[in-house]
Amino acid sequence: GTRKITVLPGDGIGPSIIDSALQILDKVGCDFEYEFADAGLTALEKHGELLPQRTLDLIEKNQVTLKGPLTTPVGGGFTSINVTLRKRFNLYANVRPVLSFAGTQARYENIDIITIRENTEGMYSGLGQKVSEDGRSAEAMSVITREGAERIVTFAYELARKEGRKKVTAVHKANIMKSTSGLFLDVAREVAERYPDIQSDEMIVDATCMKLVMNPEQFDVIVTTNLFGDILSDLCAGLVGGLGMAPGANIGKDAAIFEAVHGSAPDIAGKNLANPTSVILASIQMLEYLGMADKAEAIRSAISAVIAEGDRTTRDLGGSHGTTDFTQAVLERL
Ligand code: NAI
Ligand code: MG
Repeated sequence: GTRKITVLPGDGIGPSIIDSALQILDKVGCDFEYEFADAGLTALEKHGELLPQRTLDLIEKNQVTLKGPLTTPVGGGFTSINVTLRKRFNLYANVRPVLSFAGTQARYENIDIITIRENTEGMYSGLGQKVSEDGRSAEAMSVITREGAERIVTFAYELARKEGRKKVTAVHKANIMKSTSGLFLDVAREVAERYPDIQSDEMIVDATCMKLVMNPEQFDVIVTTNLFGDILSDLCAGLVGGLGMAPGANIGKDAAIFEAVHGSAPDIAGKNLANPTSVILASIQMLEYLGMADKAEAIRSAISAVIAEGDRTTRDLGGSHGTTDFTQAVLERL
């Protein structure tokens, strides 16, 4: 039957870029049925909560969700909706591919890197947060488990194998953070032994930053802990032209959420200025996850052609066109 997909249009530029992505999915003949749900500021205004129960139920029921950026209101003690979703559905793998497209303003041309970030533990465990009574010291707990490390590193190698990639680099800081990063590195080495067909490399995080900037073409798949992955994946987005070009998938055993990595961009919301590429690339990740690689590739080459031609692109790509014009150009290509 028809596959149902949960769609969260989200806040700010979310609804317009999600609309672009859905038009494109329809154009390549995806026979999806979309079930729309509210989340974020929009949900707070309509239903009095950031993540209504119906939204959570739909994410769980359909298992595959396409999500626009959500605004977490400042003040009022709201916890990040994204963190809540990752925890609630145990979306342990954050998969962030970056790919060079000719015609962007990016500094590099041949980049094809996937960062796989552990999404539930490490420095973002949220455990042990305290500030001393006199306000002179603060602490928080970094937690690495053997199970969590093995799960994410195995995920990285399986993905590398499935996509025919050559190398997995485990990024760590085991020389200083001997217990936590040390355990992660130990497990990464053990898992590497099980994949003799894939080249395994390990690298200290600060050196990785330098090498990513000096010679990013040498990287293929990067696997790392939560905080390092957060930082490195944004660095990688910068290598290929910025946030408008960067999608991300949050994948767990029973649910997956595909999204742009950027936020709701309130400064350009409602002005038809947003670059929808990030969410379109997220929908490509979704198609690949669903085993629809041919449709994914068709969309990727249409986007690639429109960006390379350069006369109908959005401002962040150096063009002068709007979200709708750019989307129309991609639709015509398809
Ligand atoms: P942001 O990512 O929304 O915007 C940063 C800058 O990038 C802005 O100048 C914006 O105009 C530009 N930009 C972002 N996406 C773009 C696109 N597709 N095309 C063209 N330009 C684009 O970050 P900001 O302003 O710090 O956060 C705004 C809101 O988004 C906050 O409420 C924040 O909590 C939320 N947020 C949500 C995320 C999510 O749902 N995954 C991730 C990050 C932030
Ligand atoms: Mg981040």
